[in-house]
Amino acid sequence: METPGFRWFLTLNVLLLCREGVGSCTGGEMRVSPSTVVRLGSEINVSCILKEPYDKCSGPTPRLKIILDNSKLLVNEQVSGSEVTARHHRVNSSESSFACKLECAKTNEQLVCGVDVRAGLPPDQPQNLTCVQNGREAEVSCRWDPGQPTFLKTTQQLW
Ligand SMILES: *[C@@H]1O[C@H](CO)[C@@H](O)[C@H](O)[C@H]1NC(C)=O
Ligand SMILES: *[C@@H]1O[C@H](CO)[C@@H](O)[C@H](O)[C@H]1NC(C)=O
Ligand SMILES: *[C@@H]1O[C@H](CO)[C@@H](O)[C@H](O)[C@H]1NC(C)=O
Repeated sequence: METPGFRWFLTLNVLLLCREGVGSCTGGEMRVSPSTVVRLGSEINVSCILKEPYDKCSGPTPRLKIILDNSKLLVNEQVSGSEVTARHHRVNSSESSFACKLECAKTNEQLVCGVDVRAGLPPDQPQNLTCVQNGREAEVSCRWDPGQPTFLKTTQQLW
């Protein structure tokens, strides 16, 4: 049924989309509530929605499932024939990836889509700001303590 080309295309698709944090693929899409960037320790719901019925599936019991970091099967709630949702109670890692797979039979699994979730902490108020200028025309250089790590790209601006 499945050609290597098809699998390759889906995998590439997931890689490209994960980089953008969007979970829309040819065969279906993934949605993350409240968002794909959240606070560490918070709860998210991940859903997977097939765009088309199980036409690539010839097995008797097609099943959609959501897998965390390539290994952990989440408890999935079947919303409808083409949608499942999984509740992840505590995002405890700064980067998690979720994959949605369609299990046609025990030995035939197809990747539907994937999405990355990033978690971090809000930045602290910068402390101990000191600025030095060596001479009237020289550049000013400043340093400060940024506080706790945020695990996300953080920019701080002086003005
Ligand atoms: C996740 O889904 C459950 C059940 O529908 C809901 O009670 C909860 O508020 C949702 N949480 C988030 C973060 O969307
Ligand atoms: C993070 O959460 C996952 C899934 O709930 C769990 O399996 C894992 O042990 C947790 N890791 C840490 C470091 O708490
Ligand atoms: C700020 O500087 C003071 C004095 O050097 C030091 O005791 C304090 O820990 C520093 N605070 C931070 C947040 O780095």
